Amino acid sequence: MVFMADQFDFFSRRCAWVNGPIIVGSGPSGLAVAASLKEHGVPFVILERSDCIASLWQKRTYDRLKLHLPKQFCQLPNFLPGGLPEYPTRSSSARFNQSVQSARYDETSGLWRVRTVGTGAEAGNRSHEMEYIGRWLVVATGENAEKVVPELEGLGEFGGDVTHACDYKSGEAYRGKRVLVVGCGNSGMELCLDLCDHDAFPAMVVRESVHVLPREVLGKSTFELAVTLMKWLPLWLVDKILLVLAWLVLGSISKYGLRRPSTGPLELKNTQGRTPVLDIGALGKIRSGDIKVVPGIKRFSPGRVELADGQVLDIDSVVLATGYRSNVPQWLQRCDFFSKDGFPKTPFPNGWKGQSGLYAVGFTRRGLSGASSDAVKAAKDIGRMWREETKPAKRPVACHRRCISQI
Ligand SMILES: Cc1cc2nc3c(=O)[nH]c(=O)nc-3n(C[C@H](O)[C@H](O)[C@H](O)COP(=O)(O)OP(=O)(O)OC[C@H]3O[C@@H](n4cnc5c(N)ncnc54)[C@H](O)[C@@H]3O)c2cc1C
Ligand SMILES: NC(=O)c1ccc[n+]([C@@H]2O[C@H](COP(=O)([O-])OP(=O)(O)OC[C@H]3O[C@@H](n4cnc5c(N)ncnc54)[C@H](OP(=O)(O)O)[C@@H]3O)[C@@H](O)[C@H]2O)c1
Repeated sequence: MVFMADQFDFFSRRCAWVNGPIIVGSGPSGLAVAASLKEHGVPFVILERSDCIASLWQKRTYDRLKLHLPKQFCQLPNFLPGGLPEYPTRSSSARFNQSVQSARYDETSGLWRVRTVGTGAEAGNRSHEMEYIGRWLVVATGENAEKVVPELEGLGEFGGDVTHACDYKSGEAYRGKRVLVVGCGNSGMELCLDLCDHDAFPAMVVRESVHVLPREVLGKSTFELAVTLMKWLPLWLVDKILLVLAWLVLGSISKYGLRRPSTGPLELKNTQGRTPVLDIGALGKIRSGDIKVVPGIKRFSPGRVELADGQVLDIDSVVLATGYRSNVPQWLQRCDFFSKDGFPKTPFPNGWKGQSGLYAVGFTRRGLSGASSDAVKAAKDIGRMWREETKPAKRPVACHRRCISQI
């Protein structure tokens, strides 16, 4: 249950006591933990900067996007697709257009204090500044919260349109244009494919190396195969098997300018978070020359780009498929549970729980299956404490409320 403390309206920022966990983010991770909390009968509030659930999927992805992983690896616990799970009380809900600016643990009261500002139509309206106070904080803002925009020399003088992949919808807008796609991850590869399908002329920047794996081997998902093999074999051996299979299915990719990293694809994902590309057709377009592979960028000039090997290309547009990053360090204060890159310091499978009622859901670098695993564990743990703390004999809730009334 949430008590909206309207009596605090006369302060510039209103306060709300959250009787249960405060979940930041209503993407799949936030929703999965909410749905699991519901199973445990725990009320909660979700704070979301956007105006909808799963905003990454609804607003920041391109039209043709399909999951690269089979659906059994993308299922969320207790989650009903198409909407929020059914919440236990009318007042437990998602608060949209609430961007969390800061969250910190107050040692004196033993409570989390989470400050938000209104976004969208509510932006700039001080009456939409809020402070949410509660016993538990669940960080579910995702590994891809902010776009990465690298500093590229001369880009300001380029003159053509420059778009990040998160704002790219379809190749329709690029028909007949020469497009430089910066980055060769899953986004870069798929956007190049989409540009080809819309009669544009993509050149894809590969500044270093990249692992490309077939999405399927003999009709079976490569991801599923890797997961199965990892139950029996060490990671380095699974990596070797994947590379042999990739070679058998795709052949050598180095002759197309795609050098493989010396570290195997799964080890690279685990150690550096670099995701291998699961090919859904871009490689064929590279082979046919429809997608041109080019080296790193030296500098831009009006209508042109100069590349690391001295080549100069005339281009109309630039699409930055340069990835995403976590934003946790920007708002979670005085907390050494997360490292500077915004991921928990403790690796999977133990990175879901911090101290003082702090939880992290969806930072496993294992996509939706990792988020599910975190969500189930976090909700179970909170549920256990919730039951203990709400036993009739104890008085911690009353104690907290007394503390809030002093703010
Ligand atoms: C193009 C693309 C394709 C992908 N495809 C797959 C795939 O096929 N399979 C897979 O498993 N994974 C895929 N992923 C990874 C994907 O990010 C996750 O699977 C999934 O979206 C993670 O869910 P999440 O809830 O952790 O994060 P998100 O979906 O990013 O949700 C986080 C939410 O937190 C909100 N938020 C962030 N900061 C704040 C703040 N300060 N205050 C309030 N709210 C905030 C955001 O608005 C967002 O709604 C893909 C990612 C991208 C970018
Ligand atoms: N259909 C799907 O399931 C699907 C589709 C798209 C994305 N995704 C997922 O979404 C996540 C993000 O993928 P992503 O492709 O957007 O990002 P990404 O995997 O982080 O790839 C970013 C790319 O940008 C390159 N890059 C960054 N800065 C650069 C610079 N200054 N110059 C040249 N290249 C630069 C990187 O090169 P370096 O490697 O050299 O740094 C890398 O190739 C991943 O988990 C991915 O699997 C899934």
